Amino acid sequence: MARDAWYKDMNFYQIWIRSFKDGNGDGIGDLMGVYEKLDYIKSLGMDGIWFSPIYASPNEDFGYDISDYYSIHPDYGTMDDFDKVLQAAHAKGLKIIMDLVINHTSDKHPWFIESCKGKDNPYHDYYIWRPSRKKNKRPNNWDSLFEGKAWEYNTQTGEYYLHLFSKGQPDLNHANPKVREEIKKIMRFWLDKGVDGFREDVITFISKPDTFVNDYKMPAVKGLFEYSFGPHLLEYLTEYRQVALEYDCFLLGETPIMAPNRALSLIAEGEGQVLDMMFHFQHMQADCFMTDFIQRPFRLKKMKRAFSTWQNALEGKAWNTLYLENHDHSRIISRYGDEFYHTESGKMLAAMYLLQKGTAFVYQGQEIGMTNVYLENIEDYRDIQLKNAFEIGRKLIGRVKALEYARKSSRGSARTPVHWNNERNAGFTEGTPWFDVNPNYAKINIADQMQNTNSLWHFYRKLLAYRKKPVIRYGTYTEMNPKDRKIYMYERKYENTSVLVICSFSKLSRKYKLPSSYHEGSSEIVFNNYETVSHDKLSPYQVLVIEKTTSV
Ligand code: GLC
Ligand code: CA
Repeated sequence: MARDAWYKDMNFYQIWIRSFKDGNGDGIGDLMGVYEKLDYIKSLGMDGIWFSPIYASPNEDFGYDISDYYSIHPDYGTMDDFDKVLQAAHAKGLKIIMDLVINHTSDKHPWFIESCKGKDNPYHDYYIWRPSRKKNKRPNNWDSLFEGKAWEYNTQTGEYYLHLFSKGQPDLNHANPKVREEIKKIMRFWLDKGVDGFREDVITFISKPDTFVNDYKMPAVKGLFEYSFGPHLLEYLTEYRQVALEYDCFLLGETPIMAPNRALSLIAEGEGQVLDMMFHFQHMQADCFMTDFIQRPFRLKKMKRAFSTWQNALEGKAWNTLYLENHDHSRIISRYGDEFYHTESGKMLAAMYLLQKGTAFVYQGQEIGMTNVYLENIEDYRDIQLKNAFEIGRKLIGRVKALEYARKSSRGSARTPVHWNNERNAGFTEGTPWFDVNPNYAKINIADQMQNTNSLWHFYRKLLAYRKKPVIRYGTYTEMNPKDRKIYMYERKYENTSVLVICSFSKLSRKYKLPSSYHEGSSEIVFNNYETVSHDKLSPYQVLVIEKTTSV
């Protein structure tokens, strides 16, 4: 296990660059903006940055549709700017992880343009083409996750191409060895530059079944279980893993619909391991069904069960990631917390996940508790996924309800510009911001929170520092009272140190029982989001973290 150590207690900051910080006044976040803020990121207690895609892209899905894997999108700067950021980051002790989007490219990628030209074209087999089933019928009944059906007709070849996401995101054919060579070349290009790893986008979708039959099992999202964890997934991932092993880097897979048992076949440490960690989605589904769009009342028990299942299943075998936000989900205080108890619930949620075992990820703006944005029209959210979900939703549940669901779940809420201060455009740009700034920036911004030592920002900073303790990195995890509907309590233990984390998810004050071993004199409250503490009652959204050392 020689190569697994360095990332295990790391704290990563995720940058979705377009909305992070504008460095040249054109209203769009960019690499110079990132360069300016490296010290900021470091001062928060980060050890690394994960960049959502910054490559050339027509931006139909904001960078998750790549048209050139070897160049930086001109909106964000040049390759020189990237090299400058990489070097400066490394000099400050910050690792850099890139997004590797290889399930699909953009339809503007030269490979795809060639691929469309004819069946004899050398790039034709880079994508997944099938003839029609019957006259004018798609090859099968699969749905696209972003846009209508999963097959799109091409007049030049008289065939259909597969796109699990939007029409502008054709799926690459990993069954073609040439495609796999291209991918390894891309990986080596960035690793040779010195990047420290990749987050592999929807990586469990890359192997498609050998035959494309109709899916009659799924009422919606037809095909999902056919292309998730496809027959050759392990083979392909093993090949990509070989490249990673040539470097001291790590691979983190984004893995939708993933449960721990199956996860272990990819991330269990030792022989056959193909990923170092993964982003699964289970704890993000405590207030929705299948996708964020289909909402249900938040159920704490569901969230706790997800966290505990993963913590327990991976113990001693594999490594967890810890996250509550990213560019694909609306803001966590607006979801699992409470905007009215902004700071309280923000602090509680932060401690709740950051003190578990795993590598931590914080998404830009999460450290100050940015909240969801309420925009008038669906189009205003500029989110291709939402457009599709809304169209389906409108037919099923009507426009009014669908609009409500859309506003609550849109990824757009995670993508509004970061609030740097309470000045014009929240200090994000001197120009006109490319996307709406959340109007609450005067109340919620980084400059104010850095000034105020009681702020959510400082709470994050202390937690990120506290994560370096051996008990957080190595300690066991035990959940207490899993049946409690309002309180999440767990204990971490390592050698003679125990840490008890008590989180109330209640809007009202709530009775609880402090385990008697924590009544003794040797315990110390290390985190509390209120001034007061009671042994039998928690204030709304109170979090208490109690550390205890027993002499040995
Ligand atoms: C992943 C990305 C998401 C993107 C999708 C298609 O889920 O995180 O932003 O839209 O893949 O690439
Ligand atoms: Ca700019």
